[in-house]
Amino acid sequence: MTKVTTTAVEQMIIQPPSRFYEDSSLPKPNISSLDEYKAMYEQSIKNPNKFWGDMAREVIDWDRDFSTVLQGSLQAADFAWFADGMLSPCYNVLDRHAIARPDATAIIYEADEPNQGRHITYRQLLADVCQCAGALASLGVGKGDRVAIYMPMIPAVVVAMLATIRLGAVHTVVFAGFSAESLADRVNDAGCKVVITSDVSYRGSKVIPLKNIVDKAVPNCPSVTNVLVFQRSAAPTASMVDGRDIWWQDIVPKFPRYIPNVSVSAEHPLFLLYTSGSTGKPKGVVHTTAGYLLGAHATCKYVFDLHPTDRMGCAGDVGWITGHTYIVYGPLMMGAATLVFESTPAYPDFTRYWSTVERHKLTQWYVAPTAIRLLQRAGESFVKHDTSSLRVLGSVGEPIAPENFMWYHDVVGKKSCAVADTYWQTETGSHIVAPISTVTPTKPGSATLPFFGIDLAIVDPLTGKELEGNDVEGVLAVKQPWPSAARTVWRGHDRYIDTYLKPYPGFYFTGDGAARDSDGYIWIRGRVDDVVNISGHRLSTSEIEAALMTHAAVAEAAVVGVPDELTGQAVNAFILLKDGFEVNAELEKELILTVRTQIGPFASPKKLIFSDLPKTRSGKIMRRILRKVLAGEEDQLGDVSTLADPKVVHDIIHAVHRAH
Ligand code: WT7
Repeated sequence: MTKVTTTAVEQMIIQPPSRFYEDSSLPKPNISSLDEYKAMYEQSIKNPNKFWGDMAREVIDWDRDFSTVLQGSLQAADFAWFADGMLSPCYNVLDRHAIARPDATAIIYEADEPNQGRHITYRQLLADVCQCAGALASLGVGKGDRVAIYMPMIPAVVVAMLATIRLGAVHTVVFAGFSAESLADRVNDAGCKVVITSDVSYRGSKVIPLKNIVDKAVPNCPSVTNVLVFQRSAAPTASMVDGRDIWWQDIVPKFPRYIPNVSVSAEHPLFLLYTSGSTGKPKGVVHTTAGYLLGAHATCKYVFDLHPTDRMGCAGDVGWITGHTYIVYGPLMMGAATLVFESTPAYPDFTRYWSTVERHKLTQWYVAPTAIRLLQRAGESFVKHDTSSLRVLGSVGEPIAPENFMWYHDVVGKKSCAVADTYWQTETGSHIVAPISTVTPTKPGSATLPFFGIDLAIVDPLTGKELEGNDVEGVLAVKQPWPSAARTVWRGHDRYIDTYLKPYPGFYFTGDGAARDSDGYIWIRGRVDDVVNISGHRLSTSEIEAALMTHAAVAEAAVVGVPDELTGQAVNAFILLKDGFEVNAELEKELILTVRTQIGPFASPKKLIFSDLPKTRSGKIMRRILRKVLAGEEDQLGDVSTLADPKVVHDIIHAVHRAH
């Protein structure tokens, strides 16, 4: 058996803070011993029907009870949870709390300019959502229709999401950093009727004209009949298209402060969220209603030890799955307060996160390692606010290096918070490998142990067989369906099967490599496919290559992700120019602009390298060679005998040296 190697700091074990049990002013832990976790985990794997059936009846209010828990299988890609149950998703995240605790805070809005935010109660949020739902219904939105949401991090984005699901309609939130072309692609694939946006967005005092971007996209979207525009600025400048565009502030307040919920079946789609894979256009990952809400609730409650009286602080964006599950659906399912953070970790200065925690007495804090690296580099002196309300610090989206984990634990958490490295994906809906903060001993750099119901497998990438026991390394897979797993790809069930189920028959394939150490702890090794992760934003290399190839000068392009101190990975693009074109600063600028306008600024290549590409005789680009040369490991290229022209390696080495 292969011994899984770890460094000294990786062998460190950190126990959950004892104050969770000793300090009576803290809420009682939702799980209070490791044995309790183990017993629940075993039950969830051995008898998922009972485990999830009981939990679903306890935490979801059903309009009609279900008679089966799990039916179908992963292998047949036809699994369904609680299939004949009926529920109102919006009732579960909103009405029931507005009835029981109307004055409890639902949303803590931290505006881009500090002190311009406000708190919104469940009572108020319910009225806002009903009015917005009324407006959407008047625009013809009904059950099953798709609504695109392209908005900044303001309370209205949550209102728009919940108004959509209140009608039984399906939202697809598009991250407001995507270009007009990317927005149009998603709107068209989903066939959206309405796009909800705002005139502008503010981030770190920068103004981004969102409505202008929508105006470039929508003329290419035949399904869109209306654009609803929230006025974010004090003096709007957006131009409105007659008969198509409507100001939110003109229409929404005219509708009643209460309208009934539309009841849907458990497997009705709740939302689509587009994500990149290794091939083709982004996929519209479909999450359905009851299973997704259950996963969001359970992981908030147990991984983050969230209580209804807590104030969850996730500084992510609802344009990604993290925002869906841990800003909106999880915390609101539980009736907790949730932060909507419009700004950046650096505005007005590097104290922003911690002044936000202090101001709102946040109890959980959840961000990507890229932000932690930024703040660690800025220096400890910025961590000077009173953050003693915090109990749990979470990390998500990319591996967190042990030294960043320790800084988070020691400097931010003052050694008295649990640090949870949470591993999951857009497709998994909620955490699948993560500690139970109150009981799981952690090891810096490991996402620790599987969550309830996650029957993990480490699979041998060559044989496709499960590697059982500890001290094994391979690819990460799951053997059984879990409630919040994506059910399909929008209008592409074949793609769903091809991407997740075919690579390793019998398993859901995550796309990540992973090891299980001698204690059974999981170490995520990163993607084994052509997916790159820039500051926690997922992109496919082929998407960026396709964008570059649209430029008239480009004959061929190959993109690789390289390690980057700040953003985790950065995009490096190798480009072969067509005959007659020359490398110059102007061309380089154009190429970068091409990627920015076709995908979005965050996808911009950090480096362009002009050279021939290493291709096999069958025409496949050997990206491994590009990665090795970039890493300065040109003496470890491995087998290059399948290259059509092994001499290109020299060209590439020279080109990389020139580009440095
Ligand atoms: C990919 C999924 C999960 C929400 C945000 C990203 C990587 C995610 C971790 C982690 C190491 C991680 C994986 C995964 N990833 N969390 N804790 N440690 N890697 O969602 O955009 O769907 O990306 O992010 O490579 O496959 P996503």
